[in-house]
Amino acid sequence: MHTSEHSSTMAPRPLPAAEPGKGLRVLAGLARTRNPLTALALMREYVGQAFEIPAPRFRPAVFIGPDANRQILITDRNRLSWRNESDPVVKLLRRGVLIVDGEEHDRYRQIMDPTLQRRHVTPHIPAFWRYTDQVAADWADGSTQDMLIEMRKVALLILMGASFHVDFTPHMAQLWQPILDLLEYISPGLWIVWPEAPTRTKHRRAIAAMDDYLYAIIRQRRAELAASGVAPDPSDLLGALIVAPRMTDDLIRDQLLTMLIAGHDTSTALLAWVLYLLGMHPATLAQVQQEVDRVIGSEEAPPTADQLNELHLLDQVIKETLRLYPPIHIGNRRTTEDMAICGYHVPAGKRVMYSIYLSHRDKEYWRDPDQFCPARFERGNEEKTPPFTYVPFGGGPRTCIGATFAQVEARAVLARLLQRFDFELLNGDKIHPHMGATLEPRPGVQMRVRRRSASSQR
Ligand code: HEM
Repeated sequence: MHTSEHSSTMAPRPLPAAEPGKGLRVLAGLARTRNPLTALALMREYVGQAFEIPAPRFRPAVFIGPDANRQILITDRNRLSWRNESDPVVKLLRRGVLIVDGEEHDRYRQIMDPTLQRRHVTPHIPAFWRYTDQVAADWADGSTQDMLIEMRKVALLILMGASFHVDFTPHMAQLWQPILDLLEYISPGLWIVWPEAPTRTKHRRAIAAMDDYLYAIIRQRRAELAASGVAPDPSDLLGALIVAPRMTDDLIRDQLLTMLIAGHDTSTALLAWVLYLLGMHPATLAQVQQEVDRVIGSEEAPPTADQLNELHLLDQVIKETLRLYPPIHIGNRRTTEDMAICGYHVPAGKRVMYSIYLSHRDKEYWRDPDQFCPARFERGNEEKTPPFTYVPFGGGPRTCIGATFAQVEARAVLARLLQRFDFELLNGDKIHPHMGATLEPRPGVQMRVRRRSASSQR
């Protein structure tokens, strides 16, 4: 799907769908694996890099590849809105930055962006280190731990502690299930084909529990800031929202819940997928561990930002993990007017999706796309792909607000874990990517964890 194929003088073509025989094979693939990713990959194989999903009440236009990604994220972004009104994520996050458009979106970004700039993120490294230790303190030597659960604890403590400046420890147990219920609420489900479905009681209860908590921390911080008369720390996202003009408690709640969901579930998935892939590739695991030993040694003190930057192989592993299992595997938009995307006609009001997962695995751009190969990202020797082929954090004005935070966090957490523990994957053959709110390793990543002695790190 190269630009040359669809010069602007050509009339846009209708979006292709699968021919009946192939459509049936897609359905058979879906029934066999019960995994929509399989169906999407088969549509790519049988139909191409642009197609319409032929479900009864859900007919999005799906696009794959750098040209489409660039057009959707940059060139034509103003002709696309984010909001698809009946989606649960819109009902849940209301006016959160993720789902509002235009000036309102830009205003929230301007308030929150500065708190997540690199110079305010690197001072969090000691907190990333400490929260990792806090969770790992409960792991008995030689015990089996589910890394999908453990990494969620780490990611929640980090997001709340570092970004909101709130210690989540005392609330973790009580809010754990409501958080999982909220993630289920916004995951692909019945609402896709039945948008009018009433909200289930457990989801309403989960929203109420989170709201009670979020409004309480907003009130408390408002009172503290008023009493102290001091400006919030520049890395304090909650403080920045409170002192910004025209931000009501409702609007602040919407931003906090957005950041909480978008900022922790993604990091959870990334960390769990890295540990899964390292478990599947013990030789790489050993090499990354050697790198950590060389750069950080057995130091108890947190590393500096420069030391984290020296963990080149770990960085490649993180990038390759984001390629193979991008936590946000698809981006959602809606056309505000009739338009052509990569030469295909898309009518106004249509749901459009750009598939990050399939762009990252397209054989047109990647060598052995399904193979785990961190060396693709070796600095100075990268595999050459067109810009916008690799988009784990999206791109353009809606690019992930937490991309720097997430990458520093991942390096710090993984460095600490690999410095302190040996990991053995126990259920590698059972793990598959599940399309929840993010793409996550189900049924979980069971690993045996063993403490490393200081002498083994030499
Ligand atoms: C590995 C971790 C992460 C990944 C892979 C990821 C991925 C993404 C992607 C692909 C988008 C763009 C979606 C689109 O085009 O519609 C996005 C947006 C967003 N992300 Fe992340 N993210 C991660 C971590 C975080 C963190 C740590 C935070 C918060 C601190 C965060 C907050 C957000 C928000 C608020 C948006 C919406 C931005 C906007 O619409 O202007 N994300 N993320």
